[in-house]
Amino acid sequence: MVRNQFETIRELFSRHVVPSYGRFDIAFSHGAGSHLFDVNGKRYLDLGGGIAVCALGHAHPAITEALVEQSRKVIHTSNFYYHEPQGRLAQALVNLLGPGKVFFCNSGAEANEGLFKLARKFGHDEGRFEVLTTLNSFHGRTLAGIAATGQEKIKKGFEPMVPGFRHVPYNDLEAMRHAISPATAAILIEGIQGEGGVTPATPEYLLGLRRLCDEKKLLLLMDGVQCGHFRSGRFQSFQRILERVPGGDEFLPDGISMAKSLGGGFPMGAFWVRAPYADLLGAGTHGTTYGGSPLACAVALKILEVVREEKLETNAREVGEFLKAGLLELARKYPKAVQSVRGLGLMLGVELAPQIPNLPGDPNKTQSVRLANLLHAAGLLTIPAGGQIIRLLPALNLSRGEAEEGLGIIESVISGI
Ligand SMILES: Cc1ncc(COP(=O)(O)O)c(C=O)c1O
Repeated sequence: MVRNQFETIRELFSRHVVPSYGRFDIAFSHGAGSHLFDVNGKRYLDLGGGIAVCALGHAHPAITEALVEQSRKVIHTSNFYYHEPQGRLAQALVNLLGPGKVFFCNSGAEANEGLFKLARKFGHDEGRFEVLTTLNSFHGRTLAGIAATGQEKIKKGFEPMVPGFRHVPYNDLEAMRHAISPATAAILIEGIQGEGGVTPATPEYLLGLRRLCDEKKLLLLMDGVQCGHFRSGRFQSFQRILERVPGGDEFLPDGISMAKSLGGGFPMGAFWVRAPYADLLGAGTHGTTYGGSPLACAVALKILEVVREEKLETNAREVGEFLKAGLLELARKYPKAVQSVRGLGLMLGVELAPQIPNLPGDPNKTQSVRLANLLHAAGLLTIPAGGQIIRLLPALNLSRGEAEEGLGIIESVISGI
Protein backbone atom coordinates (compact mmCIF):
# COMPACT_ATOMS: atom_id res chain seq x y z
CA MET A 1 0.00 0.00 0.00
CA VAL A 2 2.80 2.40 0.99
CA ARG A 3 4.71 1.49 -2.16
CA ASN A 4 1.59 2.64 -4.02
CA GLN A 5 1.84 6.06 -2.45
CA PHE A 6 5.27 6.59 -4.03
CA GLU A 7 4.06 5.18 -7.34
CA THR A 8 1.03 7.47 -7.26
CA ILE A 9 3.24 10.51 -6.72
CA ARG A 10 5.64 9.44 -9.45
CA GLU A 11 2.72 8.91 -11.80
CA LEU A 12 1.51 12.46 -11.13
CA PHE A 13 4.97 13.74 -12.05
CA SER A 14 5.30 11.64 -15.17
CA ARG A 15 1.91 12.86 -16.41
CA HIS A 16 1.98 16.49 -15.34
CA VAL A 17 5.49 17.76 -14.53
CA VAL A 18 7.97 18.84 -17.21
CA PRO A 19 10.62 16.11 -17.14
CA SER A 20 13.62 18.47 -16.99
CA TYR A 21 15.13 16.80 -13.91
CA GLY A 22 16.67 13.39 -13.44
CA ARG A 23 15.04 12.53 -10.12
CA PHE A 24 15.86 9.81 -7.61
CA ASP A 25 13.07 7.36 -6.69
CA ILE A 26 12.24 8.95 -3.35
CA ALA A 27 9.26 11.10 -2.34
CA PHE A 28 9.59 12.96 0.94
CA SER A 29 6.77 13.71 3.31
CA HIS A 30 8.42 15.66 6.13
CA GLY A 31 11.62 16.49 7.93
CA ALA A 32 13.06 17.44 11.30
CA GLY A 33 16.50 19.01 11.74
CA SER A 34 18.99 17.14 9.56
CA HIS A 35 16.63 14.25 8.92
CA LEU A 36 14.03 13.72 6.20
CA PHE A 37 11.33 11.04 6.06
CA ASP A 38 9.96 9.55 2.86
CA VAL A 39 6.38 8.51 2.22
CA ASN A 40 7.32 4.95 3.22
CA GLY A 41 8.40 6.23 6.63
CA LYS A 42 12.08 5.63 5.93
CA ARG A 43 14.42 8.06 7.70
CA TYR A 44 17.38 9.68 5.92
CA LEU A 45 20.25 11.76 7.26
CA ASP A 46 20.27 14.80 4.98
CA LEU A 47 23.84 15.80 4.16
CA GLY A 48 22.69 17.39 0.89
CA GLY A 49 20.69 20.15 2.56
CA GLY A 50 18.49 20.59 -0.51
CA ILE A 51 21.65 21.63 -2.42
CA ALA A 52 23.09 23.95 0.24
CA VAL A 53 19.75 25.58 0.98
CA CYS A 54 18.44 24.30 4.32
CA ALA A 55 20.71 26.44 6.53
CA LEU A 56 18.87 25.47 9.72
CA GLY A 57 17.77 22.01 8.60
CA HIS A 58 14.12 21.04 8.21
CA ALA A 59 11.09 22.36 10.11
CA HIS A 60 13.17 24.65 12.31
CA PRO A 61 10.79 26.26 14.84
CA ALA A 62 12.41 29.70 14.43
CA ILE A 63 11.67 29.69 10.70
CA THR A 64 8.11 28.50 11.27
CA GLU A 65 7.64 31.22 13.86
CA ALA A 66 9.05 33.93 11.56
CA LEU A 67 6.80 32.78 8.72
CA VAL A 68 3.69 32.68 10.89
CA GLU A 69 4.40 35.95 12.69
CA GLN A 70 5.17 37.91 9.52
CA SER A 71 2.31 36.37 7.53
CA ARG A 72 -0.09 37.61 10.21
CA LYS A 73 1.12 41.16 9.50
CA VAL A 74 1.80 41.37 5.75
CA ILE A 75 3.24 38.91 3.23
CA HIS A 76 3.71 41.08 0.15
CA THR A 77 3.50 44.74 -0.76
CA SER A 78 5.51 45.03 -4.07
CA ASN A 79 8.56 47.22 -4.44
CA PHE A 80 6.45 50.33 -5.05
CA TYR A 81 6.62 50.80 -1.29
CA TYR A 82 8.99 50.63 1.67
CA HIS A 83 8.86 48.12 4.50
CA GLU A 84 11.07 47.56 7.49
CA PRO A 85 12.21 43.92 7.03
CA GLN A 86 13.84 44.65 3.62
CA GLY A 87 15.68 47.68 4.98
CA ARG A 88 16.88 45.79 8.04
CA LEU A 89 18.02 42.77 6.02
CA ALA A 90 19.96 44.96 3.58
CA GLN A 91 21.63 46.65 6.54
CA ALA A 92 22.56 43.28 8.07
CA LEU A 93 24.09 42.02 4.80
CA VAL A 94 26.02 45.27 4.28
CA ASN A 95 27.37 44.95 7.83
CA LEU A 96 28.59 41.43 7.03
CA LEU A 97 30.29 42.51 3.78
CA GLY A 98 31.26 46.15 3.62
CA PRO A 99 30.04 49.53 2.39
CA GLY A 100 27.52 49.06 -0.41
CA LYS A 101 23.86 48.33 -1.11
CA VAL A 102 21.70 45.25 -1.70
CA PHE A 103 19.08 44.32 -4.31
CA PHE A 104 16.64 41.50 -3.51
CA CYS A 105 15.29 38.90 -5.92
CA ASN A 106 14.07 35.29 -5.80
CA SER A 107 16.79 32.86 -6.85
CA GLY A 108 20.48 32.45 -7.57
CA ALA A 109 20.11 32.70 -11.33
CA GLU A 110 18.20 35.92 -10.91
CA ALA A 111 20.84 37.32 -8.56
CA ASN A 112 23.49 36.62 -11.22
CA GLU A 113 21.28 38.21 -13.90
CA GLY A 114 21.34 41.34 -11.75
CA LEU A 115 25.14 41.25 -11.64
CA PHE A 116 25.26 40.87 -15.45
CA LYS A 117 23.04 43.92 -15.81
CA LEU A 118 25.26 45.78 -13.37
CA ALA A 119 28.30 44.89 -15.52
CA ARG A 120 26.53 46.04 -18.70
CA LYS A 121 25.48 49.34 -17.12
CA PHE A 122 29.00 49.84 -15.79
CA GLY A 123 30.61 49.36 -19.21
CA HIS A 124 27.82 50.76 -21.34
CA ASP A 125 29.09 54.24 -22.16
CA GLU A 126 32.47 52.83 -23.23
CA GLY A 127 30.91 50.05 -25.31
CA ARG A 128 32.10 47.38 -22.87
CA PHE A 129 29.71 44.54 -22.06
CA GLU A 130 31.65 41.29 -21.81
CA VAL A 131 31.80 39.18 -18.64
CA LEU A 132 34.64 36.65 -18.30
CA THR A 133 33.82 33.55 -16.27
CA THR A 134 35.60 30.25 -15.63
CA LEU A 135 35.48 26.73 -17.00
CA ASN A 136 33.48 24.33 -14.82
CA SER A 137 31.59 27.24 -13.28
CA PHE A 138 27.83 27.23 -12.72
CA HIS A 139 25.76 30.41 -12.67
CA GLY A 140 22.15 29.31 -13.19
CA ARG A 141 19.71 28.14 -15.84
CA THR A 142 18.37 31.37 -17.34
CA LEU A 143 19.59 32.25 -20.84
CA ALA A 144 22.32 34.55 -19.54
CA GLY A 145 23.03 32.09 -16.72
CA ILE A 146 23.78 29.25 -19.13
CA ALA A 147 25.81 31.61 -21.34
CA ALA A 148 27.87 32.53 -18.26
CA THR A 149 28.24 28.91 -17.12
CA GLY A 150 31.50 27.31 -18.24
CA GLN A 151 30.03 23.85 -18.99
CA GLU A 152 29.02 22.82 -22.50
CA LYS A 153 26.40 20.30 -21.33
CA ILE A 154 24.35 23.13 -19.76
CA LYS A 155 24.26 25.12 -23.03
CA LYS A 156 23.57 22.25 -25.40
CA GLY A 157 20.32 22.63 -27.36
CA PHE A 158 19.76 26.24 -26.34
CA GLU A 159 22.04 27.97 -28.82
CA PRO A 160 22.54 30.69 -29.90
CA MET A 161 23.95 31.79 -26.56
CA VAL A 162 23.41 35.29 -25.17
CA PRO A 163 26.52 37.14 -26.38
CA GLY A 164 29.14 38.60 -24.10
CA PHE A 165 30.46 35.67 -22.07
CA ARG A 166 33.76 33.80 -22.42
CA HIS A 167 35.33 31.19 -20.15
CA VAL A 168 38.91 30.58 -19.04
CA PRO A 169 40.43 27.95 -16.71
CA TYR A 170 39.72 28.47 -12.99
CA ASN A 171 42.53 29.45 -10.61
CA ASP A 172 44.60 30.58 -13.62
CA LEU A 173 45.33 34.28 -13.32
CA GLU A 174 47.39 34.50 -16.49
CA ALA A 175 44.61 32.91 -18.55
CA MET A 176 42.22 35.55 -17.21
CA ARG A 177 44.69 38.36 -17.98
CA HIS A 178 45.11 37.12 -21.55
CA ALA A 179 41.36 36.79 -22.09
CA ILE A 180 40.61 40.45 -21.33
CA SER A 181 39.51 42.33 -24.46
CA PRO A 182 38.57 45.97 -25.06
CA ALA A 183 34.93 44.82 -24.64
CA THR A 184 35.45 43.26 -21.18
CA ALA A 185 33.52 44.91 -18.35
CA ALA A 186 33.69 42.32 -15.56
CA ILE A 187 35.01 39.03 -14.23
CA LEU A 188 32.69 36.62 -12.41
CA ILE A 189 33.90 33.66 -10.36
CA GLU A 190 32.65 31.37 -7.60
CA GLY A 191 34.78 31.48 -4.43
CA ILE A 192 34.39 27.70 -4.33
CA GLN A 193 33.15 26.09 -7.54
CA GLY A 194 30.18 23.95 -6.51
CA GLU A 195 28.51 22.18 -9.41
CA GLY A 196 31.93 21.99 -11.06
CA GLY A 197 33.17 19.71 -8.27
CA VAL A 198 33.94 21.68 -5.07
CA THR A 199 37.14 23.51 -5.98
CA PRO A 200 38.13 26.48 -3.81
CA ALA A 201 39.87 29.51 -5.31
CA THR A 202 43.44 29.97 -4.15
CA PRO A 203 44.29 33.10 -2.12
CA GLU A 204 46.75 34.19 -4.84
CA TYR A 205 44.02 33.92 -7.47
CA LEU A 206 41.57 36.07 -5.49
CA LEU A 207 44.15 38.75 -4.68
CA GLY A 208 45.50 38.65 -8.25
CA LEU A 209 42.01 39.06 -9.73
CA ARG A 210 41.40 42.08 -7.51
CA ARG A 211 44.64 43.71 -8.74
CA LEU A 212 43.84 42.80 -12.34
CA CYS A 213 40.35 44.29 -12.14
CA ASP A 214 41.68 47.49 -10.57
CA GLU A 215 44.38 47.76 -13.22
CA LYS A 216 42.00 47.16 -16.16
CA LYS A 217 39.00 48.98 -14.66
CA LEU A 218 36.81 45.87 -14.52
CA LEU A 219 34.21 44.85 -11.96
CA LEU A 220 35.17 41.82 -9.88
CA LEU A 221 31.96 39.86 -9.29
CA MET A 222 31.60 36.77 -7.09
CA ASP A 223 28.87 34.15 -7.20
CA GLY A 224 28.28 33.27 -3.55
CA VAL A 225 25.01 31.44 -4.21
CA GLN A 226 26.27 28.01 -3.13
CA CYS A 227 29.49 28.71 -1.21
CA GLY A 228 28.18 31.76 0.69
CA HIS A 229 26.11 32.28 3.81
CA PHE A 230 28.53 30.84 6.40
CA ARG A 231 28.91 27.49 4.64
CA SER A 232 32.69 27.81 4.44
CA GLY A 233 32.96 28.79 8.11
CA ARG A 234 32.82 32.53 7.27
CA PHE A 235 29.97 34.55 5.77
CA GLN A 236 31.54 34.48 2.30
CA SER A 237 34.06 31.91 1.11
CA PHE A 238 36.62 34.56 0.12
CA GLN A 239 36.70 35.69 3.77
CA ARG A 240 37.64 32.14 4.78
CA ILE A 241 40.11 31.60 1.94
CA LEU A 242 41.89 34.89 2.68
CA GLU A 243 42.04 34.47 6.47
CA ARG A 244 45.51 35.32 7.78
CA VAL A 245 46.72 35.95 4.21
CA PRO A 246 48.65 39.24 3.93
CA GLY A 247 46.35 41.77 2.22
CA GLY A 248 43.37 39.43 2.68
CA ASP A 249 41.52 41.69 5.12
CA GLU A 250 41.28 44.48 2.55
CA PHE A 251 39.91 42.22 -0.21
CA LEU A 252 36.39 42.97 -1.40
CA PRO A 253 34.78 42.15 -4.73
CA ASP A 254 32.53 44.74 -6.40
CA GLY A 255 29.43 42.57 -6.44
CA ILE A 256 28.29 39.32 -4.75
CA SER A 257 25.28 37.18 -5.64
CA MET A 258 23.48 35.27 -2.89
CA ALA A 259 20.56 32.81 -2.63
CA LYS A 260 20.13 29.25 -1.29
CA SER A 261 20.88 29.42 2.49
CA LEU A 262 19.92 33.12 2.55
CA GLY A 263 16.26 32.03 2.75
CA GLY A 264 16.85 28.58 4.24
CA GLY A 265 14.30 27.06 1.85
CA PHE A 266 12.12 30.12 1.38
CA PRO A 267 12.93 31.11 -2.24
CA MET A 268 15.10 34.18 -2.09
CA GLY A 269 18.09 35.77 -3.80
CA ALA A 270 20.05 38.98 -3.48
CA PHE A 271 23.10 40.79 -4.72
CA TRP A 272 25.35 43.21 -2.89
CA VAL A 273 27.12 45.97 -4.80
CA ARG A 274 30.20 47.73 -3.43
CA ALA A 275 29.72 51.40 -2.55
CA PRO A 276 31.23 53.12 -5.62
CA TYR A 277 28.84 51.22 -7.89
CA ALA A 278 25.86 50.87 -5.53
CA ASP A 279 23.74 53.49 -7.33
CA LEU A 280 24.51 52.36 -10.91
CA LEU A 281 21.17 50.57 -11.16
CA GLY A 282 18.97 53.62 -10.67
CA ALA A 283 15.17 53.88 -10.53
CA GLY A 284 13.50 51.99 -13.37
CA THR A 285 16.60 50.03 -14.47
CA HIS A 286 15.96 46.74 -12.65
CA GLY A 287 13.21 45.11 -10.67
CA THR A 288 11.11 42.10 -9.74
CA THR A 289 7.61 41.81 -8.29
CA TYR A 290 8.40 39.52 -5.37
CA GLY A 291 12.01 40.42 -4.52
CA GLY A 292 12.63 41.18 -0.86
CA SER A 293 9.03 40.62 0.27
CA PRO A 294 8.30 41.18 3.96
CA LEU A 295 7.88 37.41 4.38
CA ALA A 296 11.16 36.45 2.68
CA CYS A 297 13.09 39.13 4.56
CA ALA A 298 11.59 38.14 7.91
CA VAL A 299 12.79 34.57 7.35
CA ALA A 300 16.26 35.68 6.23
CA LEU A 301 16.60 37.99 9.24
CA LYS A 302 15.60 35.12 11.54
CA ILE A 303 18.23 32.85 9.97
CA LEU A 304 20.91 35.49 10.54
CA GLU A 305 19.76 35.80 14.17
CA VAL A 306 19.91 32.03 14.76
CA VAL A 307 23.31 31.77 13.03
CA ARG A 308 24.63 34.48 15.34
CA GLU A 309 23.04 33.21 18.55
CA GLU A 310 23.92 29.56 17.98
CA LYS A 311 27.40 30.36 16.61
CA LEU A 312 26.71 28.36 13.46
CA GLU A 313 29.59 29.98 11.59
CA THR A 314 31.95 28.29 14.04
CA ASN A 315 29.87 25.11 13.93
CA ALA A 316 30.17 24.96 10.13
CA ARG A 317 33.94 25.30 10.45
CA GLU A 318 34.36 22.77 13.28
CA VAL A 319 31.90 20.10 12.18
CA GLY A 320 33.13 20.64 8.61
CA GLU A 321 36.70 19.99 9.68
CA PHE A 322 35.63 16.88 11.58
CA LEU A 323 33.69 15.61 8.57
CA LYS A 324 36.55 16.35 6.19
CA ALA A 325 39.06 14.57 8.44
CA GLY A 326 36.74 11.54 8.52
CA LEU A 327 36.35 11.56 4.75
CA LEU A 328 40.12 11.85 4.25
CA GLU A 329 40.50 8.82 6.50
CA LEU A 330 37.98 6.93 4.32
CA ALA A 331 39.95 7.98 1.22
CA ARG A 332 43.08 6.53 2.84
CA LYS A 333 41.30 3.29 3.83
CA TYR A 334 39.36 2.76 0.58
CA PRO A 335 41.51 4.12 -2.28
CA LYS A 336 39.64 1.90 -4.73
CA ALA A 337 36.50 3.93 -4.05
CA VAL A 338 37.66 7.43 -3.06
CA GLN A 339 40.34 9.39 -4.86
CA SER A 340 40.31 12.71 -3.00
CA VAL A 341 38.37 15.01 -0.69
CA ARG A 342 38.06 18.77 -1.20
CA GLY A 343 36.30 21.77 0.24
CA LEU A 344 35.94 24.10 3.21
CA GLY A 345 33.57 24.04 6.17
CA LEU A 346 30.29 22.35 5.31
CA MET A 347 30.90 22.40 1.56
CA LEU A 348 32.75 19.18 0.87
CA GLY A 349 33.32 17.13 -2.25
CA VAL A 350 34.31 13.46 -2.34
CA GLU A 351 35.95 12.63 -5.65
CA LEU A 352 35.45 8.99 -6.54
CA ALA A 353 38.16 6.78 -8.02
CA PRO A 354 38.06 6.94 -11.85
CA GLN A 355 36.66 3.41 -12.13
CA ILE A 356 35.31 1.83 -8.95
CA PRO A 357 35.45 -1.96 -9.43
CA ASN A 358 32.11 -3.71 -8.91
CA LEU A 359 30.09 -0.55 -8.31
CA PRO A 360 26.48 -1.79 -8.33
CA GLY A 361 23.75 -0.01 -10.28
CA ASP A 362 22.79 0.89 -13.83
CA PRO A 363 26.03 1.08 -15.86
CA ASN A 364 24.42 3.83 -17.98
CA LYS A 365 24.35 6.05 -14.91
CA THR A 366 27.39 7.97 -13.67
CA GLN A 367 29.40 6.67 -10.74
CA SER A 368 28.25 9.60 -8.58
CA VAL A 369 24.57 8.80 -9.21
CA ARG A 370 25.13 5.09 -8.59
CA LEU A 371 26.90 5.78 -5.30
CA ALA A 372 24.20 8.29 -4.29
CA ASN A 373 21.62 5.53 -4.88
CA LEU A 374 23.55 3.12 -2.66
CA LEU A 375 23.79 5.79 0.03
CA HIS A 376 20.03 6.40 -0.24
CA ALA A 377 19.39 2.71 0.36
CA ALA A 378 21.57 3.03 3.48
CA GLY A 379 19.67 6.13 4.65
CA LEU A 380 21.93 9.02 3.60
CA LEU A 381 21.28 11.93 1.22
CA THR A 382 24.17 13.52 -0.70
CA ILE A 383 24.33 15.59 -3.89
CA PRO A 384 26.17 14.36 -6.99
CA ALA A 385 28.29 16.90 -8.91
CA GLY A 386 29.19 15.75 -12.40
CA GLY A 387 29.93 12.07 -12.88
CA GLN A 388 32.63 11.61 -10.27
CA ILE A 389 31.87 13.73 -7.23
CA ILE A 390 29.51 13.43 -4.28
CA ARG A 391 28.86 16.69 -2.44
CA LEU A 392 28.05 17.21 1.23
CA LEU A 393 26.20 20.51 1.76
CA PRO A 394 24.35 19.93 5.04
CA ALA A 395 22.58 22.27 7.42
CA LEU A 396 24.88 24.71 9.22
CA ASN A 397 23.64 23.33 12.54
CA LEU A 398 24.68 19.75 11.75
CA SER A 399 25.93 18.19 14.98
CA ARG A 400 29.14 16.25 15.40
CA GLY A 401 27.04 13.17 16.20
CA GLU A 402 25.17 13.54 12.91
CA ALA A 403 28.46 13.98 11.06
CA GLU A 404 29.66 10.74 12.69
CA GLU A 405 26.42 9.02 11.66
CA GLY A 406 27.02 10.17 8.07
CA LEU A 407 30.62 8.97 8.05
CA GLY A 408 29.47 5.61 9.41
CA ILE A 409 26.91 5.22 6.62
CA ILE A 410 29.42 6.20 3.92
CA GLU A 411 31.93 3.69 5.29
CA SER A 412 29.32 0.94 5.50
CA VAL A 413 28.53 1.50 1.81
CA ILE A 414 32.03 1.93 0.36
CA SER A 415 33.51 -0.90 2.41
CA GLY A 416 30.97 -3.21 0.80
CA ILE A 417 31.74 -2.42 -2.85
C1 LIG B 1 27.08 28.88 -7.84
C2 LIG B 1 25.64 28.91 -8.26
N1 LIG B 1 25.17 29.98 -8.88
C3 LIG B 1 23.88 30.07 -9.27
C4 LIG B 1 23.02 29.02 -9.05
C5 LIG B 1 21.60 29.11 -9.51
O1 LIG B 1 20.76 29.29 -8.41
P1 LIG B 1 19.19 28.99 -8.55
O2 LIG B 1 19.05 27.53 -8.80
O3 LIG B 1 18.62 29.45 -7.24
O4 LIG B 1 18.71 29.80 -9.70
C6 LIG B 1 23.48 27.87 -8.40
C7 LIG B 1 22.57 26.72 -8.17
O5 LIG B 1 22.98 25.62 -7.91
C8 LIG B 1 24.82 27.82 -7.99
O6 LIG B 1 25.32 26.73 -7.38
